[in-house]
Amino acid sequence: MKVVSTRPELRAGRAALTGDVAVVMTMGALHSGHEALLRRARAEAGSLVLTIFVNPLQFGPTEDFERYPRTLEADLDMARDCGVDLVFAPTREVMYPSGEPAVRVDPGPLGVVLEGASRPGFFHGVLTVVNKLFQLTRPDQAYFGEKDYQQLGLIRAMARDFDLPIDVRGVPTVREPDGLALSSRNRYLAPAEREAALVLHRALRAAAAAGDVEAGLAEFAKVPEVKLDYLVLTDPMLGPAPQHGPARLLTAAWVGATRLIDNLGVDLP
Ligand code: PAF
Repeated sequence: MKVVSTRPELRAGRAALTGDVAVVMTMGALHSGHEALLRRARAEAGSLVLTIFVNPLQFGPTEDFERYPRTLEADLDMARDCGVDLVFAPTREVMYPSGEPAVRVDPGPLGVVLEGASRPGFFHGVLTVVNKLFQLTRPDQAYFGEKDYQQLGLIRAMARDFDLPIDVRGVPTVREPDGLALSSRNRYLAPAEREAALVLHRALRAAAAAGDVEAGLAEFAKVPEVKLDYLVLTDPMLGPAPQHGPARLLTAAWVGATRLIDNLGVDLP
C-alpha cells in the first residue's frame, strides 16, 4: 500500500494502478461503516484508492472542524487490512493551494433542504471537495454510505449533471447491535448520550412500521434530552412522500453537543 500526500505523488501512484479503479472518500476516523465501503470496493474493482481529508469547506463556523477526530495511524491499519492500494491524505494546502476556492459546486434545490437547511453551505463544501477528489483520483467507481443519504443522492446527481464518467455506488448503513448507526461523531457521545442516541433508530423503525412520522415523533417525545431537528418521510429522491411503494425516512437530532443523522428505507403498503 502506498501512502501519498502531494499531487505529483498521487499522479505517479494513480498511473501505476491497474484495472478499473475504485475510490472511497473519507474524512478519516475510520470505523466499520468505512470498512464495509472498502471491502465492497475491493471486491468489485481492480484497484482501490482511499482518500482521507477533513474538508474545512463543509464545516460551519460553529461546527466541529477543530475537534473532528484525526486517527491517521489506525486508519492506515484498516486500509492495509482492507487491501487498499493507494491512500491520498493531503494537507489543506495541497487541496486548497490558493486558500478557500472562489468557485464552488452549487448543489441545486436538493442541497438546501434537510441537512442543507440546517447546515448552510454544507453541500457546496461536500460537492466541491468530492468533485476535486474525483478529478485528482480519476476513478471508474466511487462508493459512498447510505448513512449520508442526501449526500449520496447529491453526488449521484453531480456525476449525472456534470457528465462525470464515474459509477457512484451506495453501500447500506452499518449499525451497532443495538441499532445505532456507525458514525465518526459517535466518539463524542458520553455513555448516557450514547444511550439517548438510540432514539434515532427507534423513531425511524416506529415510523416505518406505522407508515407515517407521527409514531416516530412520539418516540422522540419520550427522550426530551435529544433535540429533534427533523424527521421526515420522502420519496427515494427526497421529493414529496408517495402514497404507496418505496419511500425514505430521514432524521437529524442533537444529542448534547453532537448532531447525528440516520435514515431508513420503507415500502409503504
Ligand atoms: O462523507 C464524508 O465523509 C464526507 O462528506 C466526504 C464525502 C468524504 C467529503 O468530504
